[in-house]
Amino acid sequence: MLASGSGTNLQALLDADLSPGRIELVVVNVPGAGAIDRAEAAGVEVAVLDHKGFDSRASFDEALVRVLLDRNIQWVVLAGFMRIVTEALLTPFRDRVVNIHPSLLPAFPGLHAQKQAFEAGVKLTGCTVHLVDAGMDTGPVLGQVAVPVLPDDDLGRLQGRILRQEHRLFPAVVRALCEGRLVRNERGAHIQGGVQVPGVALMNPPLLRSEAPK
Ligand code: GRF
Repeated sequence: MLASGSGTNLQALLDADLSPGRIELVVVNVPGAGAIDRAEAAGVEVAVLDHKGFDSRASFDEALVRVLLDRNIQWVVLAGFMRIVTEALLTPFRDRVVNIHPSLLPAFPGLHAQKQAFEAGVKLTGCTVHLVDAGMDTGPVLGQVAVPVLPDDDLGRLQGRILRQEHRLFPAVVRALCEGRLVRNERGAHIQGGVQVPGVALMNPPLLRSEAPK
């Protein structure tokens, strides 16, 4: 898990049953970030890799990759990791880096997605878990939860409701990945059998029998 901030998504992942996966290491790029305390409280090893000590994004990612390969890490989960990742990470972990974003991508990529949606006046926004590619929040979508924007919303309330759904969606998708259910194809990617988020309709419904690949 990679985190930069308060780490509420990290907490949801630490609290979840991700079996057959488990959280091997939390890497934090901001000394003093709340995510460090959360990982330590859960008894998970933490590595603090301060990006300020590196002269480029790529050299930071190279150091990160060394740490990950040392521990035979299989999946890299960006749990509120506020850095753009480079090919230095993506090449060794192709289709093995996953991120959560607080909008229904491809709408509102980049920073302050909830504010972008709020100010655009959309009636439906939400959160997205996606594979990470070299673009800004452009990788194949794995799962989404929609959150309505209510007439009397303010930005804070909307952010809170989206975040609550992030905490449900992210562990469900990460667990499915750990179960080996990622399917990658020319149109993108999906989770074989879908992802069941508690209290939310089944997403990516399983293939009907007649549609099943031969
Ligand atoms: C979340 O809104 C997530 O979608 C985005 O960064 C924020 C991290 O929050 N990628 P937290 O550190 O998990 O509380």
